[in-house]
Amino acid sequence: MKHKIILDCDPGHDDAIAILLAAHHPDIDLLAITTVAGNQSVEKTTRNALKVCSLANIRHVPIAKGMDRPLLRPARHAPDIHGESGMDGPHIPEPDIELDSRHGVDLLIELLLNSNGDITLVPTGPLTNIAAAMRREPAIVPKIAAISLMGGAIGLGNVTPAAEFNIHTDPEAAEIVFDCGRPITMVPLEVTHQALATGEVTARLRAAHRPVASFAADLLVFFASAYHNVFGFPAAPVHDPCAVAAIIDPTILRAHTMHVAIETTGHWTTGRTVCDVYGKVGKQPNTRVGYALDVNRFWDMVINTILSY
Ligand code: BDR
Ligand code: CA
Repeated sequence: MKHKIILDCDPGHDDAIAILLAAHHPDIDLLAITTVAGNQSVEKTTRNALKVCSLANIRHVPIAKGMDRPLLRPARHAPDIHGESGMDGPHIPEPDIELDSRHGVDLLIELLLNSNGDITLVPTGPLTNIAAAMRREPAIVPKIAAISLMGGAIGLGNVTPAAEFNIHTDPEAAEIVFDCGRPITMVPLEVTHQALATGEVTARLRAAHRPVASFAADLLVFFASAYHNVFGFPAAPVHDPCAVAAIIDPTILRAHTMHVAIETTGHWTTGRTVCDVYGKVGKQPNTRVGYALDVNRFWDMVINTILSY
């Protein structure tokens, strides 16, 4: 049985790889792509989603533009990691796919309300669209089968010492989502920092001499240089497809279930995902938190899917 998903993203180099994985993996039925402000403005992330889908000939998936800023805070982007366009590096032709006329939040609500409760949400950017949809139409919440999100960290953050970018950008939205009562898998930095696009990964993509695989390799080369410049990493951690992979094969993650709270008022710690590993706060566990990735299976899944274009 295929997993029905909606990918809510802010492309973004790694979001682009998540789109390619979700749109062509035989076990996934990608119902829609909704975009959000995050790595760049929502205008740019939306354009990037349209470009990826045009280049890869993904024409059966509606793409709808969502929220242009966090619920309460000013927009914050990541040009140091993703460039001014949000997807710098490869030359990408102009998109030839039309944007869906619905607002991303409206599309989320419509698809969930009309579903049988069998849709999994896969957010790979700030959680603004998901939280806004839950607030606007609370009847969607029991319709959400599960949420598999890239965000947060058990330990160190990447935008501050305490917080990861997606959660730090809109912590109030994250708090709404983590408190929603539906099954959540959190794919944190501890997992995604294992998904390194090594030279071997890009070589496997290049060896195919196929346009989509070459595009993916070009994305990863730019991403690697950004991660080298900003963090001194030897290769780029390809965060977002890990949240898709966790649906296709839940055993690809090792995970523990625990309570996760979101820090919204900290001086140094805003956006921290407070993971109660030892059950200290006495709250009902709300999240399955990944801590390790089967790296070889992950890359086989991602590369084989990209080579199928
Ligand atoms: C997350 O932030 C963005 O830069 C990436 O696309 C990913 O979703 C990693 O912290
Ligand atoms: Ca992202």
